[in-house]
Amino acid sequence: MKLAILGGAGRMGRMLIDCAGEMGLQVVAVTEIPGSDVIGKPATAEGVCFQSTWPEQADAVIDFTFHTCVIGNLANAVRCHQTYVLGTTGLSEAELAAVADASEKIPLCFAPNFSLGVNLLLELVRRAASVLDATYDAEIVEMHHKHKKDAPSGTALGLAQALAKGRGVELDTVATYGRQGIVGERPQGEIGIHALRGGSVVGDHTVMFAADEERVEITHKAVSRAAFAKGALKAAQWLSGKEPGLYNMRHVLGFEA
Ligand SMILES: NC(=O)c1ccc[n+]([C@@H]2O[C@H](COP(=O)([O-])OP(=O)(O)OC[C@H]3O[C@@H](n4cnc5c(N)ncnc54)[C@H](O)[C@@H]3O)[C@@H](O)[C@H]2O)c1
Repeated sequence: MKLAILGGAGRMGRMLIDCAGEMGLQVVAVTEIPGSDVIGKPATAEGVCFQSTWPEQADAVIDFTFHTCVIGNLANAVRCHQTYVLGTTGLSEAELAAVADASEKIPLCFAPNFSLGVNLLLELVRRAASVLDATYDAEIVEMHHKHKKDAPSGTALGLAQALAKGRGVELDTVATYGRQGIVGERPQGEIGIHALRGGSVVGDHTVMFAADEERVEITHKAVSRAAFAKGALKAAQWLSGKEPGLYNMRHVLGFEA
């Protein structure tokens, strides 16, 4: 597999390059935004340099960039028949529609969080939500570093979806994002979602089920971005040779037949 890392000078891009090396995967191209001062400079120990043009020489691309460039990236990957691992979060409706369109033509794995631990957490939350009914008040709290641009995190939204699915309700009808002022008593069945920002926190997520008599809390803490990078690289390996389609980490981990 010939891999291209998009946004290779970013926090995740650098980690993907390091982890690909550790996993013995071949990185043939690393891109950065046009105009970046890293263009032309070495990106990997093997001497692959940053480029701003589309990496046509790759057969798989990994995208952890910024949501506004995702539509263009997808069009290029479809043109070059490349498999696509998409980790970029904060996608608009139009960008999500472009993901769905592209996945009809290329194998595409999209996950708001590629860590194996978080994907197990999603499974556990879905199961917990089907056992602990709406008399258990469900709240999700996430914390990330101060540089994160979108809120709540894609993972928190994924956890909220898993919770809603476990309870058999539509998330939009029960979600509340933060609370302020005289909001009144908490309605039964509400799912609260709260985003904290500060310091260098890589990514903490807690899902809480609070009843009058007991409280269940399930927490995941990412200590290093390597957790996301290794999961994304595992997804790229898994996608190789697959039919076009929209896949996620449930497929990669075998939770979904
Ligand atoms: N799915 C996951 O597991 C997961 C985990 C961590 C971060 N993320 C998401 O990944 C994205 C990147 O996160 P980060 O912390 O590395 O951000 P970052 O800002 O450190 O890195 C993004 C990089 O992409 C580059 N870039 C922007 N537009 C580009 C373009 N058109 N072509 C090439 N490069 C371009 C930027 O210059 C930057 O270097 C964010 O959306 C973040 O929320 C997802």
